[in-house]
Amino acid sequence: MPGRTAIGLDIGTSGVRAAELSYGRGGVTLEKFGQVALPEGAVRDGEVVDRAVVAEALKTLWRGSGFKGKKVALGVANQRVVVRQVDLPWMPAAELKASLPLQVQDYLPLPVADCLIDFHVTEEIVDGESRVLRGLLVAAAREMVMANVGAVEAAGLRATSVDLTSFAVLRSVGRPNGEAATEALVDIGARVSNLVVHSGGQPRFVRVLLSGGQDVTDAISERLGLPGPLAEAVKQRSIEGVPEDERALADSAVDLMLEVFVDDIRSSMNYYAASNGGFPVERVVLSGGGSLLHGVAERLESVLHKPVVLADPISGLHVGRTGLDEQQLAAVQPLAAVPVGLALGVIS
Ligand SMILES: Nc1ncnc2c1ncn2[C@@H]1O[C@H](COP(=O)(O)OP(=O)(O)OP(=O)(O)O)[C@@H](O)[C@H]1O
Ligand SMILES: [Mg+2]
Repeated sequence: MPGRTAIGLDIGTSGVRAAELSYGRGGVTLEKFGQVALPEGAVRDGEVVDRAVVAEALKTLWRGSGFKGKKVALGVANQRVVVRQVDLPWMPAAELKASLPLQVQDYLPLPVADCLIDFHVTEEIVDGESRVLRGLLVAAAREMVMANVGAVEAAGLRATSVDLTSFAVLRSVGRPNGEAATEALVDIGARVSNLVVHSGGQPRFVRVLLSGGQDVTDAISERLGLPGPLAEAVKQRSIEGVPEDERALADSAVDLMLEVFVDDIRSSMNYYAASNGGFPVERVVLSGGGSLLHGVAERLESVLHKPVVLADPISGLHVGRTGLDEQQLAAVQPLAAVPVGLALGVIS
């Protein structure tokens, strides 16, 4: 019987997916993993817009995948979450927590009362008399978080924690003692991509980009005049017999979108490099369904001049009776980064 368990729940644009982990003396075990697709429009840019549809998908997921618990750790990632590097005067942790709302208003685009805020200390800088806490300020629009929590509750589940999706990716994919001292992790979704740069597990920089694989599908759909599902199949190269001229058109649409996406990543990385000169990124690790797009890793590699590898969030875990065979596990690997990382946040 598993010991302590935790469930991470990722509400993405293309589907809801969850991972249940158990935690014992022997390490962490993936007990269950499941996902259910969402229709277009139920989640927009990382935010639940159709609560009933998302709740129904969650109920289906729970019925079909055998999750035991009802408590979930939820992730958020969209343009209504602000992550900034901020320096605050040193103070004890409890005092910091209590005074945070008073200290950070100037950094926020919204009244602090309308946000859920958190501060992750990354460095303590002592310079003569002055002692400063450098860290990442995370502020999420309360209304947006509550919309996502509302869908969870409507499905009969309970969100016991809410975490930044990037931090979840960091937990499941970032190796504290990996080959690289500083890595950039990029989770490419359908509409939202998360970039987090870390050194040995310590986040240094976070950026949420509103682009992903769906932009590529849309571009193919437009170029070829195809309905969405067919454009998706052309993109994933899962249908045969696409005429050569159409294949060429689709490839050029993919190329164009890739160029825009890679450029977005490059400018974020340049911005990071300009403000964190002491910790150069040594390699890039990709996760998310969008990382399966043919050519994305190669393109990033040639533009960033750094090795780009695919994430393996499951390989560090024992695998319990998930009901998935090895091939299925390999297939869900890129999608497991977020839910696994969310669950790790609860049990670590
Ligand atoms: N084999 C494949 N080849 C190319 N693209 C793929 C493949 N499989 C999935 N994708 C793309 O991955 C994207 C979905 O990724 P993911 O499931 O990580 O996103 P999401 O979490 O649902 O959405 P978001 O994070 O943007 O809210 C889609 O755009 C889909 O087309
Ligand atoms: Mg996602």
